[in-house]
Amino acid sequence: MSEEHGLLEIEEGEPVGDEFEEIDVADTEADRIARRQDREFLEFRKRIKNTEQFKVEASVFDDATLGALYKLVQDGYVDAFGGAISTGKEANVYTALAPDGEVAVKVYRINASDFRHMREYLDGDPRFEGIGSDKKKVVVAWTKKEFANLKRAREGGVRVPNPIAIERNVLVMEYLGAENDRAKRLNEVRVENPETTYEVVREYMRRLYRSGLVHGDLSEYNVVVHDGELCFLDLGQAVTVHHPNSRSLLERDCHNVAAFFARQGVDADADALLEAVTEADPTAE
Ligand SMILES: Nc1ncnc2c1ncn2[C@@H]1O[C@H](COP(=O)(O)OP(=O)(O)O)[C@@H](O)[C@H]1O
Ligand SMILES: [Mg+2]
Repeated sequence: MSEEHGLLEIEEGEPVGDEFEEIDVADTEADRIARRQDREFLEFRKRIKNTEQFKVEASVFDDATLGALYKLVQDGYVDAFGGAISTGKEANVYTALAPDGEVAVKVYRINASDFRHMREYLDGDPRFEGIGSDKKKVVVAWTKKEFANLKRAREGGVRVPNPIAIERNVLVMEYLGAENDRAKRLNEVRVENPETTYEVVREYMRRLYRSGLVHGDLSEYNVVVHDGELCFLDLGQAVTVHHPNSRSLLERDCHNVAAFFARQGVDADADALLEAVTEADPTAE
């Protein structure tokens, strides 16, 4: 890991408020494509299901998910799908080729068995009022939430993968890493300069908080090092600061982060971190 972790410069723009646009989970074009099942879609489905990378996982892609992948190809966001970089509990992440290089494609599984915990994060978030408990709607909302959170974090000066496109339960974002070599997570590298690294993480946590968000699953497993820069990942579960659980989620984030850096020899403490993250913004009116 390199010596410096230059902080991302904050872009000038609208100040971030607490209001969020309501998130629409009505049927998407992908659902319509899957229902219509015309010849081109059927061919795409055959082709995708026969590619090496997807063979094992073909069963996880229901028709509507294939419809979403097909739509992303049609819309020019993706040219070809690559291999899996991660198969997680709720989502798989793949690399893909796009017109301007590589991208990462995160596919949330509608039938993931433990989707119920998603509800706990969605309940109490003003953006998702009235979503109900329909599995598909919850997962689609979750995907949209990750997209919106990535945008918001970025606007607030936090280095995260640039969100590129979203279709139903599929999110396309900037790929972090080199060819065939995804960016390493903090738990996978030897942190050469733990003090500086800790300062950058703390500053990004503070910026995220000032953007009105709490990550909610922050630890060395969701921070990667890319080109000598730190990037936060996995913002699907991030909640607004007004969420009834935002405080306890933030406390947990602080605890995880401080514990990791304390193990690296940094004088890091969860309470001090919490204080630093939530301290009033001196530049705000
Ligand atoms: N944009 C990306 N670029 C490179 N690798 C990524 C990207 N997004 C995710 N990954 C890899 O996939 C893993 C899982 O992604 P993540 O968003 O954390 O999902 P999960 O909810 O399964 O933890 C990450 O730990 C990281 O290694
Ligand atoms: Mg993760």
